[in-house]
Amino acid sequence: MTLLGIPSNGQTNGITIPNVGSLLLAFDPNRPVKGLNDFPAENIPPVAATFHFFHLMVGIGVLLLILVSYSLIQMWRGKIENQAWLLKLLVPSVILPELGNQFGWFTAEIGRQPWIVYGLLRTSDGLSKVVKSEMVVTSLVLFMLIYVLLFLLFMYSLDRKIRRGPDADYAPVDPGVPATLGEVNV
Ligand code: HEM
Repeated sequence: MTLLGIPSNGQTNGITIPNVGSLLLAFDPNRPVKGLNDFPAENIPPVAATFHFFHLMVGIGVLLLILVSYSLIQMWRGKIENQAWLLKLLVPSVILPELGNQFGWFTAEIGRQPWIVYGLLRTSDGLSKVVKSEMVVTSLVLFMLIYVLLFLLFMYSLDRKIRRGPDADYAPVDPGVPATLGEVNV
């Protein structure tokens, strides 16, 4: 297993720990692990893109885990309202799961190339003879439009919720918090 490694020219340079990769993959430290170099070049996906998108996804996951755990602890202690920096950080952080989803999807889709069905059907053999490229572009653009609209709707609802503030019956645990907290003018 390689820690802090970056793939380049078919090699991964970094801190190498022997046997751990086998242990993680096969629960047996002595079981040989087939590396990418053991596969024919035409069966290897774009490694750098898969690697970086995967790390971006996991990075976002870890960041969110830290942010949410810390925020929950502060909330249970009744202190979250007093930490303006945390509240300011939480607002733009809603974009992180959206990005994580995209990066995760890129990881899955790029990483499974060149196969549509692993070992059976290559992406290049899956091209339709009847569906023209213009039709594919049209449906792609339409899907993108729908997703942009959904995203705008999401941002609009979120913005409205934030502007409205906490529900009327919400009572912060900390008595030092001003009662007007729910009426923030943005
Ligand atoms: C916390 C660490 C995380 C780990 C260890 C992890 C691990 C994985 C793995 C192993 C895959 C499958 C890749 C493949 O197809 O072989 C994957 C896919 C994916 N991940 Fe993550 N992930 C993490 C965080 C996240 C986060 C935070 C999000 C989004 C908020 C996310 C969204 C996705 C999506 C959308 C896919 C694609 C699923 C599909 O195509 O069916 N992941 N992830």
